[in-house]
Parts: sequence; C-alpha cells; structure tokens
Amino acid sequence: MIKNVSNWVKFCTDQIHIKKKNKTALDLACGKGRHSIFLSKLGYTVIALDISMDNLNNFKEKNILKLCCDIENFIEWPFAKNSFDLVVVTNFLNRRIFNNIKKVIKINGYLVYETFGIGHENFGKPKNKDYLLRKNELVNLTKNFQLIIYEEIKVLAGNTKFIKHRIVCKNV
Ligand SMILES: C[S@@+](CC[C@H](N)C(=O)[O-])C[C@H]1O[C@@H](n2cnc3c(N)ncnc32)[C@H](O)[C@@H]1O
Repeated sequence: MIKNVSNWVKFCTDQIHIKKKNKTALDLACGKGRHSIFLSKLGYTVIALDISMDNLNNFKEKNILKLCCDIENFIEWPFAKNSFDLVVVTNFLNRRIFNNIKKVIKINGYLVYETFGIGHENFGKPKNKDYLLRKNELVNLTKNFQLIIYEEIKVLAGNTKFIKHRIVCKNV
C-alpha cells in the first residue's frame, strides 16, 4: 500500500486499465514519487521526472527510470512524440509546456492531470494565479483529445480545504 496516492490517479488508472504488456508511463514533476511507485506496481515502466534530485533519491523501486531535469527550461524537449501510454501530472502547472506534454502521449494513450484551480488561493498555496487553473481550462487545453471525465471540485471538510481541477482524456 503506497501512502497518499491521489484518489483521482487511483480512480483513473482503474478506469482506463491498459492491458498491453510493456506499457509505459511518465510521471511529470513526480516529487517524492508517490505516483511513480503506484504506477510501477500496476506494471508500467515509469519515467519519473523531477527537477529535484533530493526528491528522486526518495524512492528506489524497480521499473522506475529517474530523470532529473528542468522541464520548464529545456534546450531540447527530452521525449520523442508518441512515447507513453499514460502521462500523469499532479500538482504542477506550466501552460507553456502543455502541448509538449500532449505530444508524448501515444495514440490511444491517456493523460491524467490534476492540479489546483482558481479560488484555491483562499485556502492555501499555491496563491500565484500562474499556478491555478481557470474554469474549464483543462478541457480547453486538451480539446484535441477525447474527454473521458472532467471535474472541478471544492473540498471543505475539517482541516481539508482545496479546489482541484482534474481530467482524464485520451489521444484518439
Ligand atoms: C507540488 S510538487 C508535486 C509532486 C508530485 N507530482 C505529487 O503530486 O506528489 C511539484 C513538483 O514539481 C517539481 N518541479 C518544479 N519545477 C520543475 C521543473 N521546472 N522541472 C521539473 N520538475 C519541477 C518540484 O520539484 C516538485 O517535486
């Protein structure tokens, strides 16, 4: 059991359930690897990318290739088109690289994306609007993909207060 895996990532991977052998996933801005570890246990070969080597040193599971790089300031984008069956991005946003992210997804591959939405600044970090999704922005950013599920949720329960926007969509 891996701690703190996002319910959204769990739910989406359960729904899409890619059956083929040798399936590949990219966990972009992976942090301490909670989703990389989760995906590797589901049988994906995972590339875990983060700018922080300290974060990447946090985990050692097999089937995870670590890539320490600054994905916002690249000279050459590090991945070929159509490289991954699944790309997972959580709690990270840079609109400038969104198209690059989509291009690495294979035909019939999926994007699972979840991050903070506008209004969240009232509850905590991030407060900078550059890092907060606008209403329907994820849908607009992925409109050449097939939308499977999209939601904007507001959670106000005890100490837990956040606004998240989340999507799962398919490159068709
Ligand atoms: C809020 S954490 C989210 C981590 C992980 N996705 C999760 O949800 O547990 C944001 C992550 O983005 C990484 N990051 C920030 N800027 C980056 C960049 N330019 N290139 C690659 N990773 C970056 C940080 O090191 C950090 O691990």
